[in-house]
Amino acid sequence: MKRIWVNIFALPFLCFSAAAQASSNTSLANVTIPNTQDALRRGAETVVTLCASCHSLNYIRYRDLAGLGILPETLEEWGSQGELNSTIASYASTETSRETFGVVSPDLSMMALARKGGARYFYTLLTAYHETPDGEAEIHFFPGIAMPDVLGYSAAESDAEKTALEDQAKDIAAFLEWAADPSAPFRQQLGFIVMGVLGVQTCLFYVWKKRVRRRLDKATDHADGHA
Ligand code: HEC
Repeated sequence: MKRIWVNIFALPFLCFSAAAQASSNTSLANVTIPNTQDALRRGAETVVTLCASCHSLNYIRYRDLAGLGILPETLEEWGSQGELNSTIASYASTETSRETFGVVSPDLSMMALARKGGARYFYTLLTAYHETPDGEAEIHFFPGIAMPDVLGYSAAESDAEKTALEDQAKDIAAFLEWAADPSAPFRQQLGFIVMGVLGVQTCLFYVWKKRVRRRLDKATDHADGHA
C-alpha cells in the first residue's frame, strides 16, 4: 500500500524528467541509423583508418572486427600487423594530442554509452560543422570542441557530397554504437530463440493440459455412471 503512494507521488517527477530528457535531445538530428553488417563494416573502416589517428578503441580488438566479416588481409591494411588480439590503438600519443589540441582525444569504445543519444550524438556531431564566411569550420552543436571537422562536412560543395558524408557519418555512428556492446546482436538472437522455445513449450503444455482434463472428465463421468 505504502509503495502505491510512493509511486503516485513519484509520477509527476518521472514525467518531468522524461520531458526534460526529450527536450534536451531535440538538438540531435532525427535520423535512422542503419544496423546492417555492411554499414558496420563501412563504419569500422572509417573509424579504424581515420578516427584512430587521434582516438583509441581500448575495448575493441581486431578479432572483434573479424567477427563482422572483415578479412584478415583488410585488417592488416588497417594496421593490425597480424595481431588479431591487439586492441585498436590511437596513432597519436597522449602527449601529441595534448600538445596539438590542448586536450587528450577520448577513447571511443564506450562513448555511445557515455553520450545521451548514442549513435545519433555521433551523427549530429560529425555533420554539424558549418563554414563561416571567412572559410573557417564552426560548430554550434559543440562550440569550442577541439576536434577539427574530420569528415570535411563544412567544406562540402554540393548536396550530393553532403549526402555522401551524412551516409558515412551514419555508418560511423552505427559502428560506434555496436562497439560499445558488441555482444548485443548475439543476445538479441538468443532472446528470440528462447522466446521461440518457450512458445513451443507453452503449446505443448496446453495440449497436455487438455488431454489430462479430458481424461479426468471421462473418469468423473464413469464414476457418476456407477453411482
Ligand atoms: C585530428 C584528430 C582527431 C580525429 C581524426 C578525430 N577526432 Fe574526435 N576528437 C578529437 C579531440 C582532440 C577531441 C576532444 C575534443 C574536446 O574535448 O574539446 C575529440 C572528441 C571526440 C568526441 C567526444 C565529443 C564529446 O562529446 O566530448 C567524439 C564522439 C569524437 N571525437 C568522435 C570522432 C570520430 C567519430 C572521428 C572519426 C570520424 C574522430 N572523432 C576523429 C580529435 C580527433
